[in-house]
Amino acid sequence: MPLDLYASIRDQRLAALREQVFPRLPLAEDRPLTLEIGCGHGHYLAAYAAAHPEEFCVGIDLLEDRIDRATRKATRAKLTNLLFAQAEASLFLGALAAWSGASPVRLRRVFILFSDPWPKRRHWKHRVLQPALLDTLAPLTAPGATLHFRTDHADYFGYARAVVAEHPAWRLADPEEPAAAWPFEHVSVFEERALAGAPQSFTALRTTAFAPPPATSPAAGH
Ligand SMILES: C[S@@+](CC[C@H](N)C(=O)[O-])C[C@H]1O[C@@H](n2cnc3c(N)ncnc32)[C@H](O)[C@@H]1O
Repeated sequence: MPLDLYASIRDQRLAALREQVFPRLPLAEDRPLTLEIGCGHGHYLAAYAAAHPEEFCVGIDLLEDRIDRATRKATRAKLTNLLFAQAEASLFLGALAAWSGASPVRLRRVFILFSDPWPKRRHWKHRVLQPALLDTLAPLTAPGATLHFRTDHADYFGYARAVVAEHPAWRLADPEEPAAAWPFEHVSVFEERALAGAPQSFTALRTTAFAPPPATSPAAGH
C-alpha cells in the first residue's frame, strides 16, 4: 500500500476513534473499564458485558465486518455497557492515552483471547502480545489491573508468558492467588474451534513498577 494512502487511512481511523468512540467511554463515572483486544465477532465480550452490567466494555478488532457483526449483537441484546470499534491494538491504545491526557483512562481488565498465533518465527512480530503492547498498556492501567490471555497454541502460550514475565510493569499471577482466577467463561466460535486443541490461560497483574500520574478529573471536554 502506498505510504500516503496508509497515512490517510490511519488518520481517518484516528479521527473516528476521537470523534465517535472515546467520547462514549463513561470516564466521568469512575466505572470499571474492560477491553478485549481482537474481539472478533464479539461473542465473548457480549456475554461478559451482559453478566457484568456494572462494568463498561470495549471490544476492538482490525476487521470491519467482525466489528459490524459484534455491534449488531450488542444492539440486539440492548447492551448499553458495550461498544465495539474497528481499530488496530497499538493505534487504539496510543490514541486513547493521548486523548485522555492528564486524566488517564484506567482499564481494569484486558482480555486477549485466541489471538492469531503467527507460528513462523519471522511472523512473531505480528503477534498481539508483545513487549510494546505491555508498554502501551502500562499507563492505561493501575496496579492490580488484570490481563487475561488464552490460546490453544502451545508455542504462543510460552512466548506470551515469557513476554509478561520479562516486563517490569506486569507479573504472572500465581495460579493460587484469587486474582489468577479466570473471571468469566463463555465459549466463542474461535474457542469452540480451539477446544479440539488444548487451550491454556494465564492472568497477569499490573505491578507498581510503572507509576502513571494519578487521575485527577474525568477526561470530559476532549
Ligand atoms: C482468532 S480471532 C479471535 C477472536 C475472539 N477473541 C474470540 O476468541 O472469539 C483473532 C482476532 O484478532 C484480530 N486481530 C489480530 N491482530 C489484531 C490487532 N493488532 N489489533 C486488533 N485486532 C487484531 C483479528 O482480526 C481476529 O478477529
